[in-house]
Amino acid sequence: MSPTLPQDTPTVVPSDSLPPHGLFIVIEGIDGTGKSTQAKRLGEWFVSQGREVMLSREPTDGPWGKRLRESAATGRLSPADELQYFLNDRRQHVEETIAPALAAGKVVILDRYYFSTMAYQGARGFDPTEIRRLNEEFAPVPDLLLILDLDVDTAHQRIGVRGDATNEFEKRESLERCREIFLSLKDEPFARVIDSNGSLDEVSERIRQIVGPV
Ligand code: TYD
Repeated sequence: MSPTLPQDTPTVVPSDSLPPHGLFIVIEGIDGTGKSTQAKRLGEWFVSQGREVMLSREPTDGPWGKRLRESAATGRLSPADELQYFLNDRRQHVEETIAPALAAGKVVILDRYYFSTMAYQGARGFDPTEIRRLNEEFAPVPDLLLILDLDVDTAHQRIGVRGDATNEFEKRESLERCREIFLSLKDEPFARVIDSNGSLDEVSERIRQIVGPV
């Protein structure tokens, strides 16, 4: 049986009422694709172009995000609680950080956003389309979604090479499903899939080719 989605969501700011004057870029992909490094590099590139950049990530370092990170090590939350925590974390992130930065004209670069909820909590049994709908009630759609794509074996090797423990979040079959869900977004007008094989420089260059003309 599929877990049920939370029904009552608190009062939300509709995404079309936010004034997104800046540029909103989201980097997604399964663990091991190099998202964090590429997000940082892209931020540095925008700074070199004279733009003000706000680089952030989800789960955040706020109270909900902290619980989620802890749960990866100490024992995973129930599917329903986990989903609710990600939604709570994101709501706070949008209200306190993302929306104000966009309103101030900054380039906002996120390492993970609600597409990760579609992928990871989707892999846990929720309907990705429903997850998307719940998020888009309060979370602004990005101008550009970069999906860093890598096969699961290569991604796993990279995590191994880095020496990270393969924790509960990083189980193989569920990552296959996550990758599939990320790739299902490839035809969205705001999405681009980036082949993440090769060196960090090669991947940065592929990203820059796409972002350059934005
Ligand atoms: P990750 O970006 O890998 O953090 P770190 O680099 O600190 O390990 O994110 C931690 C995990 O959270 C990752 O395996 C994916 C998962 N996640 C979800 O399951 N749903 C979400 O909505 C988000 C944002 C992340």
